[in-house]
Parts: sequence; C-alpha cells; structure tokens
Amino acid sequence: MTDLYALFGNPIVQSKSPHIHRQFAEQTGQDMHYTKQLVAIGEFEQAAQDFFAQGGKGLNITVPFKLNAFEFAQKRTARAERAGAVNTLAMLSDGSILGDNTDGIGMIHDMHNLGWELEGKRVLILGAGGAVRGILQPLLEENPAQIVIANRTFSKAEELAKNFHDMGDVQAKTFEQLAGETFDLVINGTSASMQGELPPLPDNLLSANANCYDMMYGAEPTIFLRWAQEHGAVQVADGLGMLIGQAAEAFYLWRQIRPEVVPVISAMRRQISEKK
Ligand code: ATR
Repeated sequence: MTDLYALFGNPIVQSKSPHIHRQFAEQTGQDMHYTKQLVAIGEFEQAAQDFFAQGGKGLNITVPFKLNAFEFAQKRTARAERAGAVNTLAMLSDGSILGDNTDGIGMIHDMHNLGWELEGKRVLILGAGGAVRGILQPLLEENPAQIVIANRTFSKAEELAKNFHDMGDVQAKTFEQLAGETFDLVINGTSASMQGELPPLPDNLLSANANCYDMMYGAEPTIFLRWAQEHGAVQVADGLGMLIGQAAEAFYLWRQIRPEVVPVISAMRRQISEKK
C-alpha cells in the first residue's frame, strides 16, 4: 500500500512541499503520496490524531502549528527539544509519534552544498524569533568562533543567547551595538525582508571574505541580499536551499534514504524565476 504523508499548515496555498517530496519520491523510487492539508486554528491535535489513526506515516508542520506539533509528539529528538518547535512528525515502528526539527540542519546542509565553511567563523544572526531558535543548535555544532544574535527587541536576543550559551560563544546585541564589528557570515532570520524592510545595519559589517544568507526566498534577490551585494559580500544565498534541505531531512527520517537536493534546487529555481 502507498504510504501517506502530508503538510499541515494555515495558510498552505503557496507551499512547495508536495512538489519537493514528489521529486524526492520519484528520484529514489519510493511508493508514497504527499498532500497538503489546510488545518483550522485550534484543530491541529484532532487533525493530526485522525491522520495517524487513518494510517498516515508522517507529517510536515508549518506556520502556525510548530509548537502544537512539539506538544503532540510523544518523543522528540534533541534538536527538536532545543529548537522548541517541531516541523516533522514520524510514526515509529512501535506506533509512537516522534517529533523532529529539520530546519536548522537543512540550512547547514545547504551551506555545505554552497561550499561554505563555518568552523572558526564569526557569525551574525539578525532576528531572535522562532526561525532563529530553530537553527542555533546545528549552527553551534559546526564550531563557529562566535555567534552574535542581534535583534530589534534586545531581550529576545538575550534570552536566546542565554539558552544556547552552554554550546558555545553566543552573544546578544542590539543593532546599534554592531558598529565597529565585522563578521564572516551574516544570516538574516528576521521576517523584515518579507515586508521589504531591512534592519539598520552599519556599513562596514562584512569581513573581506564574508558570505550572507537569507532564510527567506523569492523570485528576486531579497532586500537583505541586495544590501549584502552592495556591501561587498563574496557569496550570497537565499532560503530556497534551506526549504529543500529541511524537506530532504524529513524525507530521510521517514524513508531512511537521502535524496539528492541539488537537482531539485535547480529545477525549483528555474520555475520560480519563470513565474515572476
Ligand atoms: P519567526 O518564527 O518567523 O522567526 P517571529 O517569531 O515573529 O517569526 O520573529 C520575527 C523576527 O523578525 C523577530 O526577530 C523580529 O524582531 P522583534 O523580536 O523585535 O519583533 C524580526 N523583525 C520583524 N520585522 C522586523 C523589522 N521591520 N525590522 C527588524 N526586525 C524585524
């Protein structure tokens, strides 16, 4: 029988996940079917229970249900515990439901595919919301020299830095406190670029070999990546590779097979730019 998977979210119209997982399934010859399901606010638990009761094997979870999924999981991976959010649920062979968070590792694998080295680097993260919390453990496992978290609301950056400081050198700063500092990698994890806004960044923020990564993506380079190019970034990348990377890790958790991400990234990049 074909194994069933789905994405739960609200909204989900824009979601590319079914398309990504279809390509992974074709590539690896897996007999599976992946759909997306709009779930009403307040109905996550019931919908997830129904899905697994009807034989569903795994779920991806997007906004706004990652905390609900965290609660719903009967077991959680260490990285999901640290992220405080779950984007993947899997039915285990003993019938229990495992919660994982593949967002951060998806981003790290994308950076590896891009040839970016993280060890010993000074890393700046802009933003301190759920998206940033999800990437901190996998980032720290790459042994950067230091991670600075800068956020408009300083207290949120401070709290994140405190939560992760057992894993490495993690500091919190305001945007103003970035003056005079330089970084080898700057990651935009704010939702500002979705509104075409940019946090106030000093001009000389990038070191001579700096790369910049935006966790968001679109048909055009984001406002943050345009800023990065104007300020001397050597390489820039948007979050399309992270989206496909997190899907690949979810696929691996479900099917124990690692799909090739690079051809899927290229195909989707072409489609996005053709549609614009
Ligand atoms: P997510 O789960 O996507 O991270 P979130 O938890 O709402 O969403 O976090 C959004 C992040 O973008 C926050 O760090 C937010 O800053 P505040 O904590 O000060 O709200 C940041 N953000 C959103 N709009 C911004 C803007 N115009 N300028 C700077 N930061 C912005």
